[in-house]
Amino acid sequence: MSVQRQLLETLIDGKFHSGEQLASELGITRAAIWKNIKILQSEYELDIYAITGKGYQLSQSIELLDRNVIMKKLSLTNMVPEVETFFSIDSTNHYLMKKVLSSELKCHAVFAEQQTAGRGRHGRNWVSPFGGNLYFSVLYPFQRTVRDITGLSLAVGVAIVEQLEQQGIKSAKLKWPNDVLVDGRKLCGILLEMHGESHGPLAIVVGIGINISMPENAAREIDQPWVSYQALKQGPISRNQLAADFLSNVFLALQEFELNGLEPFRERWLQHDCNMNSRVKLQLGDREITGIARGIDQQGALLLESQGRVQRYYSGEIRLRPAR
Ligand code: BTN
Repeated sequence: MSVQRQLLETLIDGKFHSGEQLASELGITRAAIWKNIKILQSEYELDIYAITGKGYQLSQSIELLDRNVIMKKLSLTNMVPEVETFFSIDSTNHYLMKKVLSSELKCHAVFAEQQTAGRGRHGRNWVSPFGGNLYFSVLYPFQRTVRDITGLSLAVGVAIVEQLEQQGIKSAKLKWPNDVLVDGRKLCGILLEMHGESHGPLAIVVGIGINISMPENAAREIDQPWVSYQALKQGPISRNQLAADFLSNVFLALQEFELNGLEPFRERWLQHDCNMNSRVKLQLGDREITGIARGIDQQGALLLESQGRVQRYYSGEIRLRPAR
């Protein structure tokens, strides 16, 4: 285990630890402790107080993700994915996409405390500071063709909002195709990537970022309205429990989708549609189409009514337009 990880595992209780005590526990000098504290502050952007006479203290306690704890808390019976956790990684999606190319395909879930190059949709980045939120990806070998996976990311959105509802967050909605919003502010983003021949089999990587507790300095980097789970839910939060709950529901949705496609999810998606019957703008490259959102079809395409006709759109981005 790296010195930084050992150091952090001691400091995560949010209490003061003297330099002397840390040095003797880790078997290194006090100067080396100081050097590694500096690294934790700069590389992981952690707020660590250094007070003469008292020692070091993390500004707030952190529950680190633990693979064994997550595995134990999964509510899955017949098929269970391999689970891995990382301290820091470029992107959990990127990690699994590399695995797809290099090895035999198995169901695999990867969580990270921090992503240094978190990917969002449309080439955006996903702000991924250390230790507060959830960033995870699921690799799922899919025995179907590219045509069969249209709508898969909508099914994943349904799995997330329904899990939020089970946890008492009833106001979560879906914005086509799969943004999870609360009062128009983004709580969770989903990024689907895949690899394989168009006639199958395929390897799907579903990446999910959920804002749980966003540190203030990282929040300043987010360029869209957002909300965190912590702001919506009273009481203590266990990140390991949340990790297991969200992973379980997403994994079950992937299995269900592989068997039955979007059909079992379509009505449930419509129940959570935040734009049903409202005026929206659809951005398609540099083209903009305005119309009334009329839900989704059997393939998960957006139905947009414009000039008396309902058209289907398979990609693009909805921009909310103020009601007139
Ligand atoms: C979006 O733009 O709405 C999609 C965001 C998806 C972010 C998640 S975080 C875990 C996984 N790894 C990534 O690099 N991106 C996804």
